[in-house]
Amino acid sequence: MRQPGKLITFEGPDGAGKTTQVNLTAAALREEGYDVLVTREPGGTRLSEAIRGILLDPAFKEMTPFAEALLYAASRAQLVGEVVLPALGSGRVVLCDRFVDSSLAYQGYGRGLDLEMLRRINAPALRGIGAFLTILLDLEPGEGLRRAAKPEKMDRLEQEDLSFHRRVRDGYLALANQNPERIKVVRAEGDPAGVQAGVMAYVSGFLRGRLQGAPFEIEVRG
Ligand code: TYD
Repeated sequence: MRQPGKLITFEGPDGAGKTTQVNLTAAALREEGYDVLVTREPGGTRLSEAIRGILLDPAFKEMTPFAEALLYAASRAQLVGEVVLPALGSGRVVLCDRFVDSSLAYQGYGRGLDLEMLRRINAPALRGIGAFLTILLDLEPGEGLRRAAKPEKMDRLEQEDLSFHRRVRDGYLALANQNPERIKVVRAEGDPAGVQAGVMAYVSGFLRGRLQGAPFEIEVRG
């Protein structure tokens, strides 16, 4: 499939400041004349936003880890088919606030589901998306959760205990080690402008062809 556009995904533990960085990156790229589309997961389409409502609702305490994984994959399949692939096809730069690595980090490392199985249920949802770049905003989970939300406003995932969020963070770092061409780690400490400089160095490298990125890997390496 012809894919003249470029996909850049932003990942990290809750409260790492992904959304701020996505928005700053979009503004900087638009300034440079790029046609940028910003979207998020879970969400980004009517159907995916409805699935997001189910996923984050603390009332669904009975949700099994596998059902959770499938709902995230379903939301992703719709976003990719309806929004991401058409935008890439028309040459746009797509910035996505969370993507498939969130499922490996949260449902895999966090919930303990088999990583190979998660890769297999997610691969068809990605429909052969080519090489992309992933920015991992890394932050200690305690710090992230303090930043993220007040306890009474926490969503179903944020309400998990600190050890869950530690596994997620360590999982992300393991994924970055396994996928060095695609996943670039930026420390999410200090002021947002400083973090943004680190993000833009990778993003510019990718858009100008100095960094290749890589497609999503079904087989584990490293
Ligand atoms: P969101 O409000 O987008 O989190 P944040 O603002 O921290 O990015 O909520 C998304 C939540 O869903 C977040 O806790 C991570 C989780 N998640 C998964 O567990 N698996 C996934 O595949 C995705 C995309 C998100």
